Amino acid sequence: MKILAIETSCDETACAVTEGFEVISSVKITQEIHAMYGGVVPSLAKRDHEANIDFVINKALSEAKTTIEQIGAIAVTMGPGLAIALGVGIAKAKELAVKFNKPIIAVNHVEGHILSSLIDNKTQISFPCLALVISGGHTQLVLVKGFGEYKVLLESLDDDIGEALDKGARLIGLPYPGGPALENMAAKGNFKRFQLPLPMAGKEGGAFSYAGLKAAFSRLVKNVGEIDEQTRADLAACYQEKVFKHLIRTINICVQNLGMEVKDLLVGGGVAANNTLNKQLVEWGDENKIRIYYPSNKLWCTDNAAMIGVVGGIKAEKNQFSEINKVDRRARWRVDEAL
Ligand code: KG4
Ligand code: ZN
Repeated sequence: MKILAIETSCDETACAVTEGFEVISSVKITQEIHAMYGGVVPSLAKRDHEANIDFVINKALSEAKTTIEQIGAIAVTMGPGLAIALGVGIAKAKELAVKFNKPIIAVNHVEGHILSSLIDNKTQISFPCLALVISGGHTQLVLVKGFGEYKVLLESLDDDIGEALDKGARLIGLPYPGGPALENMAAKGNFKRFQLPLPMAGKEGGAFSYAGLKAAFSRLVKNVGEIDEQTRADLAACYQEKVFKHLIRTINICVQNLGMEVKDLLVGGGVAANNTLNKQLVEWGDENKIRIYYPSNKLWCTDNAAMIGVVGGIKAEKNQFSEINKVDRRARWRVDEAL
């Protein structure tokens, strides 16, 4: 069954046509207006989603050489995300569902990130496995018992990993989004030049925590004072190294204490686009005999509608369609919470 998927939870207006784990077309517009504010402004996100939603839907359908009549169901992100931004995609999905008499499927955005490494990927994963969702708004290690069966094992007590990278980047004068800017800068730097504390969240590694590291980085940047290009690169390298070290250390403690064997770890979310982290996670996986699955294309790391379509396809197969009047924006919706 072909799925038309719509995603408007944050600052990307996206639409895709998918079938099973295959992406037939995927279109997204990344809103650039937020860069000048250093973060996403919800009212501006809503305005831009409204301006672009018809365009991305029409483009996704035409690139897929598909008419809306040939679509089996409409999948839409219902949450978590910015309420007024989610509302734009949901209203459009409902409008199309009624007009063309199509079933609708409400999708959890985090479930999309969890399964994004399976897009266009033919390998069979074995359940239970783990999923790591690392983005601007999420830092979660999730136990995946099967499709649609999740248990959040770890999350952040305060800032999320992408948010920590964005804030750190800003402290040294890099543009938003900070993750990619910091990655480029860090590649030219020496991470050993400065000392920063490694966060020890929950002592036994029971959670992630980035607020303390960011505060320490802010103090370090103030102490350094005037920053030349090499110093900026060294600061970036030092901060990024600690952000990733804390991530992997915390996951490692959790996995060692899990009490069950897992063979696969699925990675998703915008921060998965980072090559340095990719290398470190694969090394950790090799040491622990855990296979690391990355999205086959960086397009599937940051927010996109293809991953929403893949979840929609799995739900359609299980006949898990939603009642149209129950599909409503849900700004907070944990992936292990029932619909
Ligand atoms: O998944 P995403 O598009 O949105 C959320 O659901 O939050 O993730 C956006 C986050 C931003 O914090 C951005 O800085 C980060 O992903 N990001 C990266 C890279 N590309 C995007 N972080 C590190 N390295 C990258 N290459
Ligand atoms: Zn996301």
